[in-house]
Amino acid sequence: MTQKFYITTPIYYVNARPHIGHAYTTIACDTIARRHRLLGDDTFFLTGTDEHGQKIERAAQAAGKTPQQYADEISAEFRNLWKRMGISNDDFIRTTEDRHKKRVQVLFRQIRDNGYIYKGTYTGQYCVSDELYVDGAQPGDPCPTCGRVTETVHEDNYFFRLSAFQDKLLGLYANPDFIRPETRRNEVISFVRSGLRDLSISRSTFSWGIPVPDDPKHVIYVWLDALANYITAIGYGSSHAGAQEAFKKYWPADVHMIGKEIVRFHCVYWPAFLMAAGLELPKAIVAHGWLLFEENKMSKSRGNIVRTETILDVLGADALRYFLLREVVFGQDGSFSFDALVQRYNSDLANGLGNLASRTLAMINRYFKGEVPNPSHIKAKKPTDDAIASAARKTIQEFGDLFDQFQFSRALESAWGLVAAVDKYIVDNEPWALGEKLGESQDEESRSRLATVLYTSAEALRIATALAHPVMPDATAKIWVQMGLGDIRKVALQDLAWGQLSAGTKLGDVSPVFPRADKSAIERMQQMENQERSAAVEEEKTPAVQPATPADATPPAVTDDGKISIDDFAKVEMRVGVIKVAERVPKSDKLLRLEIDIGAEVRQVVAGIAEAYAPEPLIGRKVVIVANLAPRKLRGLESNGMIVAASLEGGRPVLAGFLEDVPVGARLK
Ligand code: ME8
Ligand code: MG
Repeated sequence: MTQKFYITTPIYYVNARPHIGHAYTTIACDTIARRHRLLGDDTFFLTGTDEHGQKIERAAQAAGKTPQQYADEISAEFRNLWKRMGISNDDFIRTTEDRHKKRVQVLFRQIRDNGYIYKGTYTGQYCVSDELYVDGAQPGDPCPTCGRVTETVHEDNYFFRLSAFQDKLLGLYANPDFIRPETRRNEVISFVRSGLRDLSISRSTFSWGIPVPDDPKHVIYVWLDALANYITAIGYGSSHAGAQEAFKKYWPADVHMIGKEIVRFHCVYWPAFLMAAGLELPKAIVAHGWLLFEENKMSKSRGNIVRTETILDVLGADALRYFLLREVVFGQDGSFSFDALVQRYNSDLANGLGNLASRTLAMINRYFKGEVPNPSHIKAKKPTDDAIASAARKTIQEFGDLFDQFQFSRALESAWGLVAAVDKYIVDNEPWALGEKLGESQDEESRSRLATVLYTSAEALRIATALAHPVMPDATAKIWVQMGLGDIRKVALQDLAWGQLSAGTKLGDVSPVFPRADKSAIERMQQMENQERSAAVEEEKTPAVQPATPADATPPAVTDDGKISIDDFAKVEMRVGVIKVAERVPKSDKLLRLEIDIGAEVRQVVAGIAEAYAPEPLIGRKVVIVANLAPRKLRGLESNGMIVAASLEGGRPVLAGFLEDVPVGARLK
């Protein structure tokens, strides 16, 4: 019997161009969806864009566009990129579509009719970047998740009785499969145990959102709007019979895949909204880690993104897909680098699967006129042949088990273990030597042996290729055609077994699927990214340049009218540095200990900015430091230099930064 399978990505904000962080989630979901289709499941795979809210409204304003124009452009970029990458989503939802807006209003009404919404006044802090109400924060406090300064919001709102769901939510988390991995589940449990406050679910001080039904002065909180996409896209709240049927069929979702920074919204708010509306809950929320670039989370606001297009241009989508799923341990953070990408590509794809395919198929062409030989001359069998057969059987099982547990890297490791075993098998059995003998005499024994070795290799290749298909749809489809097997999308994965390759199968044209990449590929990709970055500077969200006052620099000699000479100014050596390490100084509320790379050296600086900046988000940030300040000791730590910051009311510091990308070590004059 066919089962249904419904999987979703987050819907991405349209304030940023797509980068490989977004591609990572989308690729993982695409791979899972493709595997389920091959297993015969009635699969629905959803992605889309999140287009409302203050953050988008402001980004549009800054770009001099209407929010709708702006959203149209960036949403199209996501959609086109996914097309170019062969992402197999069944729908693409935009939150500015009518179908979504109407259905969100239905959801709001339903929750209100069930008694979980009331009117009140919200006074508190809000992080626009995360679109998050920060409970318990004071004006000027940084957002605990991203470190940006929160804004004070004071307005009439509708509130959602989140507090009513504490026990029900904890009951839900008792199921260990609901939130994965375990670390994320534990975080959520302790967050919910610490008590839930009711949640403001509307805003009334801006208008870029879906109006609250019967009270259009308010727009619905963007996270309620966004989360609802998972049901509106498949027909919730529609009056059309077809849509209602689809909703009945596909809801609840089998997997909501997300990045770890949006766990709270998905694991706390979303199930509570659904319970309040009397709807079923998703079966699993699976959170992966972050892709890091140069040790920091790749993100638009840090300006350290890598565009997907660059990799597509140079190595193709399959290389990126394989790399991300193979290299990153799912659930943990993983570093991206062009070096590692090219190295993996060469070792696992060009020299691994690709080489196995071309050598095996070339020998079948040469010695058996392009027809898969018959291995059934039992006399010619050796234990090593059976060893490959049983390795293949084991791999089929293992790959499936690991994959279903979202352990993509281990699943691929298992399949590539089979590839390596076959490589060794070929070397040990020297089919080329057997082939030579054939040429000299019509030696039947060598012929049977050669047939068995090549059949065994080709069959193992077929199995590795079928397993890898969801991960690398393009390349594996090509290998399949070269093997004369037709359309790989018709493979029934649940029946995949050793021995299904028929002798006599006529090979197609054989050509390399993964040509080796040379070192220049790395440079080319790096260059493409550097160019893109300097072109995109004006879009970067580094803080606006503030008048920088080195707060307690020794005042240089001044003239009578308070002016200094250029020479005096030149005595102050200010340089661009990048923060490598940031941590709180124990027992101090004010101080952070920083290690700052200023090009020629790494300096320890102790800075009084802990009340304005959380340490973690500072890492990777470029700052200006006064480099020739005499060292001094603070709390027993030597401080070698001073960070330049604007000093706002109450002494709150705002770090100086640059709109353009500047190299570390550059001197300010
Ligand atoms: O949060 N590493 O949208 P968003 C890994 N609109 N994954 C990354 C990543 C990185 N460096 N950067 C982004 C939103 N992602 C909301 C979601 S859902 C109802 C609303 C991926 O544009 C990852 O999946 O900030 C992350 O959760 C998502 O993009 C955030 O995209
Ligand atoms: Mg984000």
